[in-house]
Amino acid sequence: MKQITIAYIMLCLIYSCNSTKDMSPATSQDSGDNIEKIPFVEDLLQKMTLEEKIGQMNLYNGFYDLTGPAPAGGDAAIKYANLSKGYVGGMLNVRGVKNVRKLQKIAVEESRLGIPLIFGYDVIHGFKTLAPIPLAESASWDLEAIEQSARIAAMEASAAGLNWTFAPMVDISRDARWGRVMEGAGEDTYLASKIATARVQGFQGNDLSDPSTIAACAKHFAAYGFAESGKEYNTVDMSNVVLHNVILPPFKACVDAEVATFMNAFNTLNGVPATSHNYLQRDVLKGAWNFQGFVVSDWGSVGEIVTHGQASDEKEAGALAVRAGSDMDMESYVYINHLKELVDSNRVNKEDIEDAARRILNVKYKLGLFDDPYKYCDEQREKEIIRASEHRAAVLEMAKKSIVLLKNDRELLPIRPNQKVAVIGPMVEEKNSPLGSWRLASDDHTAVSIREGLEQYENIEWTFAEGVRLLDAAPAFVLETKINMDDRTGIDEAVSIAKENDVVIMALGEHGFQSGEARSRTQLDLPGLQQELLEAVYAVNPNIVLVLNNGRPLTIPWAKDNIPAILEAWQLGTESGNAIAQVLMGDYNPSGKLTVSFPRAVGQLPLYYNQKNTGRPVPMDNQEMVFWSHFGDESNMPLFPFGFGLSYTSFKYSDFQVHLNADNNIDVRIKIANTGQRQGEEVVQLYIRDLAASITRPVLELKGFDKIDLKPGESKELQFSLTDKELGFYNDQGRFIVEAGQFDVFVGGSSDKLMKKTVDRK
Ligand code: NOJ
Repeated sequence: MKQITIAYIMLCLIYSCNSTKDMSPATSQDSGDNIEKIPFVEDLLQKMTLEEKIGQMNLYNGFYDLTGPAPAGGDAAIKYANLSKGYVGGMLNVRGVKNVRKLQKIAVEESRLGIPLIFGYDVIHGFKTLAPIPLAESASWDLEAIEQSARIAAMEASAAGLNWTFAPMVDISRDARWGRVMEGAGEDTYLASKIATARVQGFQGNDLSDPSTIAACAKHFAAYGFAESGKEYNTVDMSNVVLHNVILPPFKACVDAEVATFMNAFNTLNGVPATSHNYLQRDVLKGAWNFQGFVVSDWGSVGEIVTHGQASDEKEAGALAVRAGSDMDMESYVYINHLKELVDSNRVNKEDIEDAARRILNVKYKLGLFDDPYKYCDEQREKEIIRASEHRAAVLEMAKKSIVLLKNDRELLPIRPNQKVAVIGPMVEEKNSPLGSWRLASDDHTAVSIREGLEQYENIEWTFAEGVRLLDAAPAFVLETKINMDDRTGIDEAVSIAKENDVVIMALGEHGFQSGEARSRTQLDLPGLQQELLEAVYAVNPNIVLVLNNGRPLTIPWAKDNIPAILEAWQLGTESGNAIAQVLMGDYNPSGKLTVSFPRAVGQLPLYYNQKNTGRPVPMDNQEMVFWSHFGDESNMPLFPFGFGLSYTSFKYSDFQVHLNADNNIDVRIKIANTGQRQGEEVVQLYIRDLAASITRPVLELKGFDKIDLKPGESKELQFSLTDKELGFYNDQGRFIVEAGQFDVFVGGSSDKLMKKTVDRK
């Protein structure tokens, strides 16, 4: 294989040494010289004492919400005292104009230099008006809609006094056991990178100083989604090839979109905590990528360097973190307690402090906080913008786009007028679960329930029953969910109404608090007694439409084999019930496609479409033979594959052409026709396979897509071009290389149903 283009992604190929006990200042790729020097900030830095610079590197939790373990150092009196000394850079979990103004006033009026605070919050999929969870939104493959959703979140959050969100989470994950798959954009790096860009643009707009935009934060840098066995906060060990090809590109996309901040991660990567990871933060992010913003730690993660076992005490942890480029300490109190002494004793360079303070002040400057520290504190705007009716309309559209039709045998859907329909299950009346677990600012029980959505259709005779309760106890944010495993008293009623109706809609799934941070699961079937309920109802009426509400893929092979219609409706936010009703009734034609593979069994995990071939893939001739890569008790195939999703209409792909042009790029053409009776949208997907390369490549890789809207009988031709950017890859040295040779090119509407052509690239 001849290497024809070599672009170095970084000069340093070897992990820079995070020497275990060496407390001398480290040299790194990132000298701080390339960071923008804004005259106003430079003047300010001149005036600041070392303590004041360190103060900027300090992020305190406010007094309203708690999104991590309550820390020992979180004494309110000390926090207030430090605010007035100018020893706080920002606050998280303070919301509402009144509350923000109160703290900002202390910083601006009582501290020596009056430097305003930055106010951060987990605005993950909306503020008061909630859009679908990010995983659901990703299933829309609609970048414009996703950008708009982030825009609405920014408008509401900024109206509540906030100017910084801890989003987007751009972690790739291939393991549905991990609770935070709900917060990402699925398993594919290419799609997730596009979505990351859309989200950053949505939050930040074109001008950070516009009071309706907020600073975004790409998190968690890096590899947090690859926690071993999907167990939250667990260890990550991975090759350079996976790191560079799978994990880093969505982060790089955020840097290219000029994201203002990064958050590092709780996990270790190859033995080094992400928070003290020189290579990630100094060499890659601030060095090779020239990131201009600042890096915040995750909650307490500076202190956790000790718990991980890389530092023997907090002081050492602080030194490691600062030297590795963690600019701001969220809730560890390590920087505020130890940095001054570390600098005085020459164990941390004062240039590193200066660099961190500069980065933080630059972001504040770009937000316009020095012009007006209260620019996000407009009570009138707060009243008008939050929960605006246009926001509800927009999140309803987003929710409909996020729904994926997984099965529709006998065209059971849409529901026909004048049918008698039973609606059964613990999710039918749920107004809380559809809000998901990242819904801090939103009011509890404010989602439109499925029942409320359906009852708007008065020409249908509806009968409702819960069947079984999902939970024994209502969960609070910090409590484990208690699943009902005993109370079957509602099953008889459910069975009897199922008998009397033409069709049964069964709304089942996970509670909103069963996914999200610290919500890993070892079993991914329908929790509690729901499977039992489903089978009991099926025994008397098999005309079932299963509506799933969940934050991650579930293992539901029985349902796939037996239930004729399945709709994946995730956790869709404030307008959930309306969106589901409109799809069930055919007022909206579903067009979502899965961005995560659904496993048949937990034992298949990690499961993802772009796997490697192995030396012993499925034998074409003799599958009875045992020596190939498979499970003895389960298929290799997913239950539902990446890219899969049905429509109420049908699409035909034809005229597939692939040719190598004079620039050595691969031109692709494909015609798609709507061959059904209804208008519909289709996500057209383009994949490649590099058949032989110096580093083995996946059997399929998404490299392009387009979402098109076609009327019945209408067709469109699409063109794609595959260039070095799409055809190259990172080698085990982290270098981007492009190699000549044969490529398979695939087009289709799902990763398991593709047309293929092969081309030789010079
Ligand atoms: C911990 C989470 O990992 C992070 O994503 C979040 O932004 C912080 N807590 C702050 O709430």
